[in-house]
Amino acid sequence: MSKLFTAEIIENRPAAKDIHLIKLHLPRHAMNPEPGQFYMLQVGLHNDPLLKRPFCMFDSGAHELAILVKRVGRGTAILTGKLPGSFVDVLGPLGTPYPRVEKEPLIISGGMGMASVYSLIKKYGKGCRVIYGAGSREGLISLDNIREMAGEVAVTTDDGSEGTRGNVMDKIGEYANKGSVVYACGPEIMLMKVSRYCVEHEIECYVSLEQNMACGIGSCVGCVVKTLEGYKRVCKEGPVFRADEIVWD
Ligand SMILES: Cc1cc2nc3c(=O)[nH]c(=O)nc-3n(C[C@H](O)[C@H](O)[C@H](O)COP(=O)(O)OP(=O)(O)OC[C@H]3O[C@@H](n4cnc5c(N)ncnc54)[C@H](O)[C@@H]3O)c2cc1C
Ligand code: FES
Repeated sequence: MSKLFTAEIIENRPAAKDIHLIKLHLPRHAMNPEPGQFYMLQVGLHNDPLLKRPFCMFDSGAHELAILVKRVGRGTAILTGKLPGSFVDVLGPLGTPYPRVEKEPLIISGGMGMASVYSLIKKYGKGCRVIYGAGSREGLISLDNIREMAGEVAVTTDDGSEGTRGNVMDKIGEYANKGSVVYACGPEIMLMKVSRYCVEHEIECYVSLEQNMACGIGSCVGCVVKTLEGYKRVCKEGPVFRADEIVWD
């Protein structure tokens, strides 16, 4: 088993505005990922750009890995432009997965947060409930699949084009209680609000955080986040953290 390998792109298609779903064929010696883990991809040829870019495991199957890639800069533009049949160097799976807790899973996703929690929804299936928020209907990736997989799905959009007009915080009171364990991924402001709500209401909660990453393996200490126990590396001690240990400034 190895964490460093070369993978062939077998599919690359638009999944939403500026977002591609990319499927990779993994070699036999690649390790199986768990929901919450991520991969570092060498997006360009000849190490340009030099640094690998981190992407969550969106979905996985026998020798297959799917990632969702939002085009935000040069690296993601190169990656989303790659044709099936091309190869990328990959490091992973990396980081901590979402822990299993014997409570009712409530999964909260905002926008691209679905890249991290889709596989968790798939794992819990009808046993989990989901609050899925986005700016508008166009930003709701794989909504039909999620509705099919999960026990219950509440949708919110900022503009009201799908589900309730508003954001995930407008639904959390209805869905979360002390018997729940909340798993959340999305924009930092959403994670901060979800975390504060859960801490205040004594609800166990785990959040998946993002930081710019250089090495992805704990060596450069460039991805730290402030916690009650000091600074921790998002790539090594995270990306999944207990919500009550994060210090939100
Ligand atoms: C653990 C982890 C998992 C991630 N999973 C996914 C995923 O599944 N799908 C996905 O599309 N993106 C994901 N990201 C973000 C993704 O890694 C960045 O968007 C990507 O590295 C940007 O590369 P670039 O060369 O296109 O952008 P750059 O040219 O490097 O930067 C362009 C813009 O994007 C911002 N940016 C760069 N890196 C990040 C980052 N890590 N987080 C937020 N903004 C960033 C920069 O500040 C800048 O404004 C993840 C990040 C982390 C840390
Ligand atoms: S990216 Fe280097 S320590 Fe996390």
